[in-house]
Amino acid sequence: MYVCICHALNDKKVKAALDNGARTPASIFRHHSCQVQCGKCVPLMREMAAQHGGGCGSCATSPAPANSGAYEYGVAAE
Ligand code: FES
Repeated sequence: MYVCICHALNDKKVKAALDNGARTPASIFRHHSCQVQCGKCVPLMREMAAQHGGGCGSCATSPAPANSGAYEYGVAAE
């Protein structure tokens, strides 16, 4: 299943980034040497990061950014 159409990132590629320590959409993009373009995939990436777990337990894995209202789709990559 494609998660990010702009960069052809499928769920396996997103999971690989999460397995390597990525915890935010921006870090998933960095893992694959790209950056957010349209942003439509960010909510799903954030959800996948939250479900992936593996965090330290005391830190949030992918909190909604305080300025998320400033973005066209209501999302920011961090
Ligand atoms: S679908 Fe991921 S940046 Fe456009």
